[in-house]
Amino acid sequence: MEEENNRAEKQIIADIVSGQTSEEVIQHLNNPVTDLKPIVKQYLTKVKGVKKEGNKFYFSDGSARVEVRVVSDEIIRVRLAPHGVFLTDFSYAVEVVDQKVTTFRLEEYDDYYSISTNTITCKVNKEDFLVSFIDNLTGIVMSQDSQPMHWEENVEFGGFYVFGTKKCLPEENFFGLGDKSGNMNLRGRKFQNWNTDAYSFGWDQDPLYRTIPFYIGIHQAASYGIFFDNTFRSYFDFGKENHDKTSFWADGGELQYYYIHGPHMMDVLKRYQTLTGTHQLPPKWALGFHQCRWSYYPENKVREIAENFRANQIPCDAIYLDIDYMDGYRCFTWNKKYFPDPKKMIKDLLNIGMKTVVMIDPGIKVDDNYWVFKEGKENNYFCRRSDDYFMEGHVWPGRCQFPDFTNPTVREWWGGLYKELVELGVAGVWNDMNEPAVFGTGTFPNDVRHDYDGYRGSHRKAHNVYGMQMVRSTYDGLKKLMRNKRPFTITRAGYSGMQRYACVWTGDNVATWEHLKLGNIQCQRMSISGVPFCGTDIGGFSGEPDGELFTRWIQLGTFSPFMRAHSAGDTAEREPWSFGEPFTAINRKFIELRYRLMPYIYSVFWEHYKHGFPILRPLAMLEQENISNHFRQDEFTFGDKILVC
Ligand code: GLC
Repeated sequence: MEEENNRAEKQIIADIVSGQTSEEVIQHLNNPVTDLKPIVKQYLTKVKGVKKEGNKFYFSDGSARVEVRVVSDEIIRVRLAPHGVFLTDFSYAVEVVDQKVTTFRLEEYDDYYSISTNTITCKVNKEDFLVSFIDNLTGIVMSQDSQPMHWEENVEFGGFYVFGTKKCLPEENFFGLGDKSGNMNLRGRKFQNWNTDAYSFGWDQDPLYRTIPFYIGIHQAASYGIFFDNTFRSYFDFGKENHDKTSFWADGGELQYYYIHGPHMMDVLKRYQTLTGTHQLPPKWALGFHQCRWSYYPENKVREIAENFRANQIPCDAIYLDIDYMDGYRCFTWNKKYFPDPKKMIKDLLNIGMKTVVMIDPGIKVDDNYWVFKEGKENNYFCRRSDDYFMEGHVWPGRCQFPDFTNPTVREWWGGLYKELVELGVAGVWNDMNEPAVFGTGTFPNDVRHDYDGYRGSHRKAHNVYGMQMVRSTYDGLKKLMRNKRPFTITRAGYSGMQRYACVWTGDNVATWEHLKLGNIQCQRMSISGVPFCGTDIGGFSGEPDGELFTRWIQLGTFSPFMRAHSAGDTAEREPWSFGEPFTAINRKFIELRYRLMPYIYSVFWEHYKHGFPILRPLAMLEQENISNHFRQDEFTFGDKILVC
């Protein structure tokens, strides 16, 4: 009995002290003189009533309100307003919320209300406000609150920390979340989303470059998805702290999530893509082999590499110019010593079938003689701190200021800056360092202000979308300048929906066998998290692969949606012929295979664009009813016809 009481007391205290792990809470109990501040979490209480407005239902416990919105026959959105007033409904991920709904109805029972579509039912318990989602056909409770939605006042910044806690069933497994390293099945782990420049990241390192707050849960051979559309620093716990709870929470914003029905994993993903969009069909050359390095310069070196591909009879569609093509790392300029006539070089490269892709970073050098800085300064396009100072930080060019890409006017301006590059014949743009990365401090401080498309916010709210908004402006700008030709863009950072604007690579990996394995899992995971066009730095960015590792990576890359070799500047040369025979011949053979598969790859991409099918499909997705597949991650299919082992 006493033990029971103790447990109950610990539970209560664990509930009122937030943001701490249970160990920290217990430490606090043993030693109350710590700096832990007891903050009170507030929970929804009894449902006092419901009001219907079109496809939205408002439940209230007297002060807090919950909106349940029928988005489609298979998607329901839930929002919480702790004090009854909802935040403005705006999302960078979801452009249009409402889809086609056949029919829906509200019913009241003794203990609960239910909102049903033809496919699913959302139940809201009267007594404790717990929300659950049920498959009408099988009666399976797919997802169920374990605690009522709750929140905690944020005294320092205003607003609330917001929390959702669901049941985690004994046999339930989890997939998704996009950019995470480590095993594909997320069960038993806890994650954080805060876009981070993660040079040489390791197995299980978290967070990485991108934020995709979307996961797929599977139990009883049926799947569902939860998309927690919140751009603040967010967290997910899949049965780690408590083996029977799955929680997600964020440092601010709204507790707003979409329940997305399956019952197949593929259905969940396709429906997630109806909300956040699919990847446009890329130009065909973007699906070929690409050669990159930090950096190929001067011009002679670029030409030599391109010509070597032809001399070695190895297909290649694109060559990349990393930061050294610029004048002192000033974006939209050329180093005239290294590249005296870029137009001619680009044209000559094109004549031998090579497109040129260039890097553009967000940091703009503070330099009054530099036109981009001057334009940005005159028009007030750069981010500012809370006290109105400019946000300044060091990146490649030295002291920089940073455009506020969450401002539509700034996006329009930035998109137009590509005019000269497009006129010179540049075919694609690679946006890097857009977490945003700042040397020393890592990223911007929290107090930096953003326009947030007119809805205003500090960096706490805008950080995770900064990179996506940068590449969005790049994509939109290129699309206009290229007169509707399909633009090719790559981004390092992003948020859910980034797939509408760019493809991604997994960032600064390492030339090790472990990273080869990790890269395979990462690409599969990105693929089932709505970002289909993804690849790794083939060969590993830092460190030195031997011939075999490089060749194995080319082989994996043959079946990566994005196939690009890239390496850091302080490494040995890393082209398909760099390791001599027998490696050159094997590399050639596999790159040729990539091109032999091109019509198939192009069709697979079209199916993604049109219907939201992923390009890479893990075995768990192919046969979800076979539980052993939930733990397999080496093999996958590339489209629906090729199994890669
Ligand atoms: C970052 C990028 C890498 C690039 C380098 C120099 O580390 O992730 O791909 O080569 O910056 O621009």
